[in-house]
This record gives sequence, structure tokens and C-alpha cells, in this order.
Amino acid sequence: MPAAAPPVLPRHVAITMDGNGRWAAARALPRIAGHRAGLKPVRMCIEACAARAIEALTLFAFSSENWGRPAAEVGKLMGLFLESLEKEIDELHAKDVRVRFVGARERIGAGLRQRIEAAEQRTGGNSGLCLQIAMSYGGRWDIVQAARRLAAACVNGRLRAEEITETSFGEALALAGLPPPDLLIRTGGEQRLSNFLLWDAAYSELFFTPTLWPDFALSDFRAALDFFAARERRFGKTKSQRAS
Ligand code: IPE
Ligand code: IPE
Ligand code: MG
Repeated sequence: MPAAAPPVLPRHVAITMDGNGRWAAARALPRIAGHRAGLKPVRMCIEACAARAIEALTLFAFSSENWGRPAAEVGKLMGLFLESLEKEIDELHAKDVRVRFVGARERIGAGLRQRIEAAEQRTGGNSGLCLQIAMSYGGRWDIVQAARRLAAACVNGRLRAEEITETSFGEALALAGLPPPDLLIRTGGEQRLSNFLLWDAAYSELFFTPTLWPDFALSDFRAALDFFAARERRFGKTKSQRAS
């Protein structure tokens, strides 16, 4: 009997890590306890992607809209990001992970921003998993910042308007240089984008699970990969065109 074909893996996985607050509320804990408990599945997903040689993992950690949460929650979250970056960066570097932050970083406090930039510089030459942390990120922000960059290039004569194409536009976006996310996972039961990767997710396969992010286990990640492997991706073409 011929060996079964290996399952098709995504090249790039994106995850909206939702449900931390509800996880904490169910245990009568403060919301920040849920965010803290969400670090374990982050580590698990990084390891699971690295183990499978998946090229890229993009994690939605804090949205443009999340700035509108109570200042106390925002402050505690920023503290947690800083603390976990400090704690994890050595191991990420040792695992050859290249870490990048995508989002409106000028809104992030100077202390955390400096650590972010140091982490990016330190891991920038790594050739393993490309890990993107989307922080202060919104898909609309991303499209607008790309439009601004291209408009500036037109104004100073480096670019002609006719040269703005889907390709050149994509190159001005935050995830430029990466394959588009082919699997987008959202935990926490909501089936919406919440302003994540509006451009890049045009052809992502969408996996929604009611599991709250702190409970997201390797078995859930495997279920998402199985779901992905079972999809027939047609990209607008017919089934027979895809087969040939
Ligand atoms: C996701 O969990 C983490 C962030 C948005 C920062 P939530 O904090 O949105 O948790 P729920 O959706 O209230 O349960
Ligand atoms: C999306 O979750 C943002 C992140 C997980 C970082 P939200 O909890 O902020 O989204 P909504 O409010 O359910 O749309
Ligand atoms: Mg939420």
C-alpha cells in the first residue's frame, strides 16, 4: 500500500487570542489573571509551529480598539507584555525565532517600545519561525499606513500612481515579505475579524473555536491543522482547474 500523503500544512498561521477575560470571570479572578494564563498557549503554539517547520505565526495580542479599554486593564496588559518579553526573549532567540511587532508602535510607551526594538534587533538575523506579535494593530491602520507610504512615494516622485498594484500595496503592509496567513484561528467563540489582517486574510481559511484562549491546548491546535488540511482551496477557480 502506498504511504499516505503527508497532511498539507499552512505556511503561515494567524491567531486571534480571545476569551481571556471570560476565562478569568468564570474563576472569579481579575481579567489580568486570564491574560497571564494566556501565556501558556502562546508558548505552546510557538513550539508547535517550530516543530512542524511552519514558516510564520502571527498573534493578535492587542488591537487598535483595545486602547479604549479601562486604563487599568491597558496598563496591566502593557506591564504583562513587558514582563513576558523580558522573560521569553532568551529562549525565543535560542530557538532561532525571529520576533517582530506589527502595529502602531508610536502609541506604545517608550519603555516597552525600546524592549520591542531590542528584541527585534537581537532576533532579526534568525532563520527559524517568523513570529509576528500584532500589538496596537488594526487592519484598517495597516491599510492606511500603507496608503500613506505609497502616497508619499508618489509625491516625491519615486513612484507613479499606475505603479500602485496589489503587489506593491502588499509590500507596503505590515506583513510584507511573508506568505499570506493561510489559516486564521480565533478562540473564544466569536466569529468575527475584529479588525485583524483585513487585507492579508483575503483567502485565509477560518477556524473558529469556542475554547477560551487560556484553555487552548495542543489538541486544539492539531484540530485546527486537521481542519486546514481538509479544506479544498480553490482561490476562485473550479475544482477541476485546481486538480490539473
Ligand atoms: C483577548 O481576550 C485579549 C485581548 C483582547 C487583549 P479578552 O480580554 O478580549 O477576553 P474576553 O473576550 O473579554 O473574554
Ligand atoms: C480581538 O479581541 C483582539 C485581540 C484578541 C487582541 P477583542 O475581544 O478585542 O474583540 P471584540 O471586542 O470581541 O470584537
Ligand atoms: Mg475579547
